Amino acid sequence: MVAGPIHMAYILAALLFIMALAGLSKQETAKYGCLSGMVGMTIALIATFAQVESVSGFFLIVLAMAIGAAIGIFVARRVAMTQMPEMIACLHSFVGLAAVLVGYNSFLELGSIAPETVTIPVGASQATIVAILDAANQAADAAAQAATTMSAGELNTHLVEIFLGIFIGAVTFTGSIVAYGKLNGTYKLRVFKSAPLMLPGGHYLNLAALIVSVLLLVWFMATPNPSVIPLILMTLIAFAFGVHLVAAIGGADMPVVISMLNSYSGWAAAASGFMLSNDLLIVTGALVGSSGAILSYIMCKAMNRSFISVIAGGFGNEGAAATGDEEMGEYHELKANEVADLLKNSSSVIIAPGYGMAVSQAQNAVAQLTEKLKARGIEVRFAIHPVAGRLPGHMNVLLAEAKVPYDIVFEMDEINDDFENTDTVLVIGANDTVNPAALENPNSPIAGMPVLEVWKARNVVVFKRSMNAGYAGVQNPLFFKENAAMCFGDAKKTVEEIVANI
Ligand code: TAP
Repeated sequence: MVAGPIHMAYILAALLFIMALAGLSKQETAKYGCLSGMVGMTIALIATFAQVESVSGFFLIVLAMAIGAAIGIFVARRVAMTQMPEMIACLHSFVGLAAVLVGYNSFLELGSIAPETVTIPVGASQATIVAILDAANQAADAAAQAATTMSAGELNTHLVEIFLGIFIGAVTFTGSIVAYGKLNGTYKLRVFKSAPLMLPGGHYLNLAALIVSVLLLVWFMATPNPSVIPLILMTLIAFAFGVHLVAAIGGADMPVVISMLNSYSGWAAAASGFMLSNDLLIVTGALVGSSGAILSYIMCKAMNRSFISVIAGGFGNEGAAATGDEEMGEYHELKANEVADLLKNSSSVIIAPGYGMAVSQAQNAVAQLTEKLKARGIEVRFAIHPVAGRLPGHMNVLLAEAKVPYDIVFEMDEINDDFENTDTVLVIGANDTVNPAALENPNSPIAGMPVLEVWKARNVVVFKRSMNAGYAGVQNPLFFKENAAMCFGDAKKTVEEIVANI
């Protein structure tokens, strides 16, 4: 295919990606958003394939894609909805690793570390000698071509692209692996624990890593024939930097980390686009990078966190420690039939769902309960915290799947003032997002985070299986309040029992 149609295809694909982002910003249009993203990606793939010149190259790409797709389909089919965040973190790590590999490949293509001497093994056959000499000639040609087709300025720009691309890719790679471990929550290694891990003088270590990386860039650029050594040293530092940056961030701030790594993976892809001179990859990477950055900013605002503090590896969080084992007094308990009676005597109900609803897959039972209560003339609404669950919009997706009407689903800011005029609040598998410690205890790791003020209602019933702390590892004083009661058990089973009793 000639350049004109390819550029047209790239522009079309980029427009479809922008439409995908616009579509994904609202529940009603999310399906169309996904669809335009898929069409855009198909166009991008066809346009990219059309540029592959050699048949063997084409088959290698198809083979790699077939292997990747087979693994992807196998893994995606086994992943539960609740494991999606860790899978996304895992996929971000691949983007980072790809950027590192593209960076090294671009560097090798420059021919700057092409072997100057050729070693021919003793006793090599004539065919082997010809093959070795051919390879050496090709490397020399590539070096000569790179040198002749690039001006000194272009070469310098390209070297900076390579250096930055590898740096961002390496940080994204290891940072995403740590995020994967933290989200998975089953690994024993300390870096994978939800509580922040900050090495002594951690911020100075981060700063030192950045300074040394800049010095390595200077070394890398200083010689006419750049050495691979500063590149390798920088890569190792960036790998360690990525681990430390994400390990230092506590569980409750993980939503920001996910969107931040999403953003990094976008910039890593954009850097690869520069290295490969692929305009579409640059545009797509920049779209992902900037939308991830905007999402991180929105998340930070929703959680009342400083954006800079979180991306600098939890800067300013040193005093906060999880306090999951604190003794807080006595709690009341209600059985499912007693909750049903309480609901029958209420005229207004707000349901605050959280991660536990996703774990127990209680959304359909909750939707049934909503219908039953509405049929009795009881007003039912949903209150959604911006970081409830483990993904942005996690609760909205589950409720949409259970066909809960959008007009009774409210964001935290829209409904937080209404709790005091509400008879009963059902907290279904939520914990951190309804924890009053965020407002009452300045030493809490979640201090300052806005939460659903459910305790202001006349009655609150919390559905969970035990008195265990939430994701941030912080005990919840809500459970011990006078107007609160615990309803223990798997949320789906409990809600189904309540439905049967109404
Ligand atoms: P969490 O604080 O995670 O608490 C969920 C609660 O659900 C747990 O206390 C657990 O208690 C209960 N639970 C688990 N399985 C259950 C089941 N089968 N039946 C009934 N209850 C069950 O939930 P949240 O309020 O939604 O807060 C989300 C947290 O995740 C925040 O700290 C947030 O920062 C973090 N986070 C969010 C995101 C995004 S983007 N949303 C991403 C990463 C992290 P039991 O074990 O006692 O049952």
